[in-house]
Amino acid sequence: MSLKVVILAAGKGTRMKSAMPKVLHRVAHKPMVEHVIDAASNLGARSTILVVGHGADQVRETVTRDVQYVEQTEQLGTGHAVQQAVPLLDADDTVLIAYGDVPLTKPETLETLIAEVTDSNLTLLSVHMDDPTGYGRIVRDTRGNLLGIVEQKDATGEQLKITEVNTGIFAARASVLGELLGKIDNNNAQNEYYLTDVFGLAVEQGMTVSTHHPQHLWETSGVNSRLQLAELERIYQRNQADKLMTAGVTLRDPDRIDVRGELSVGQDSMIDINCLFEGNVTIGENVSIGPNCIISNSTIAANTVIKANTVIEDSSVGSGCTIGPFARLRPGAELMENAHIGNFVEIKKSVINKGSKVNHLSYVGDTIVGEKVNIGAGTITCNYDGANKHKTVIEDGVFIGSCTQLVAPVTVRENAVIGAGSTITKEVAANQLAFTRAPVKTIDNWPRPVKK
Ligand code: UD1
Ligand code: CA
Repeated sequence: MSLKVVILAAGKGTRMKSAMPKVLHRVAHKPMVEHVIDAASNLGARSTILVVGHGADQVRETVTRDVQYVEQTEQLGTGHAVQQAVPLLDADDTVLIAYGDVPLTKPETLETLIAEVTDSNLTLLSVHMDDPTGYGRIVRDTRGNLLGIVEQKDATGEQLKITEVNTGIFAARASVLGELLGKIDNNNAQNEYYLTDVFGLAVEQGMTVSTHHPQHLWETSGVNSRLQLAELERIYQRNQADKLMTAGVTLRDPDRIDVRGELSVGQDSMIDINCLFEGNVTIGENVSIGPNCIISNSTIAANTVIKANTVIEDSSVGSGCTIGPFARLRPGAELMENAHIGNFVEIKKSVINKGSKVNHLSYVGDTIVGEKVNIGAGTITCNYDGANKHKTVIEDGVFIGSCTQLVAPVTVRENAVIGAGSTITKEVAANQLAFTRAPVKTIDNWPRPVKK
């Protein structure tokens, strides 16, 4: 037996009021449909089939996962949509039906459905809703056995009172599904081929339908509007926050953190409010992250302190570093242990070795900074000549006075000292003092201007 997952993603999503197909709208910056595809691959699906229709080309261009596509050119109903995928199924496959606009179903929930599928049993995810309006109702006999599903528009007054509804998510043997789909018609209030009709037909043929409920209602919530998209975004983020706290991370406010990617954080680390993590971020133990930080695709080692309003992108930070407030590490910044990067400092494509300090108002780009270097306030590496980038090398133990410009390519050798306000255009030898400095001129008793 192998599992195939069919994801319906042909709908337009009129209520999104968008030129973009609904399933491409994002939760945690990932298109909704990719959340569903990833859940399918977590289940070990042999293949995932996306039924596309509205905006099919846009879906194909945007989705980065390996899936098979089938096109439903006319949206004639959910049953018709699944029929398009039938030719890609093998008779003994177990098929899971999912929806590109229902992004938060947990793999464990889907697992229970798949586990119970047999040649004579279909498994369905249903939920009880206080207000079931709009949903297909689960009709049962007096002993509680499922008889079928009736859509809102086809239901009798009595059936409309049923609060157990169809989530649409179910699993069946491919041979069974294919056969049942061959029998559905569109003789109903909406003249659509209802996927839900397969359940009544199955029961008529002596099969059974077992139902499961998800642990949380939001697992089967679909998105029809941007309001619902925002609600699911909050639920997703709160789940990420809960996972972090469970793993031993302190969050100053679990409702004010956003994770848009894969974040792993070591024990006893603390994240203050309004931080955003993007892509793959790995943070070690006992790290402290101040408020309003943005960290993307980076690694932060243990015991580092990142202060408020720091932005770190495609960088790696060693242990025991101090960064910020208001610091910016751009792609290729590599800080070794105990480095200090202070306020209004920008580091790009540079290595800052052990114990070195760039504490105030500096730009360091395309540079290798040795160990125990001190770079004074306002120092700039002039790495760009308008056409090309050039390298700066600052060796161990160098002291660079404030407001120095290092015009690359240039090297400052070990333990050299650069006087404040210098423009360095050639190599400085080890242990030298180098400075460029205009002489100080003075005029005595200078008359200060007076306000008129
Ligand atoms: C469907 C179910 C209903 C269930 C509800 C849960 C049917 C007949 N009804 O109703 O029992 O309670 O979902 O949300 O299945 N789609 C296609 N092609 C089509 C039609 C739909 O790909 O031709 C896709 C839509 O894009 C959407 C999904 O299938 O993602 C469900 O379609 P929708 O029209 O929203 O079904 P409902 O009327 O809500
Ligand atoms: Ca719907």
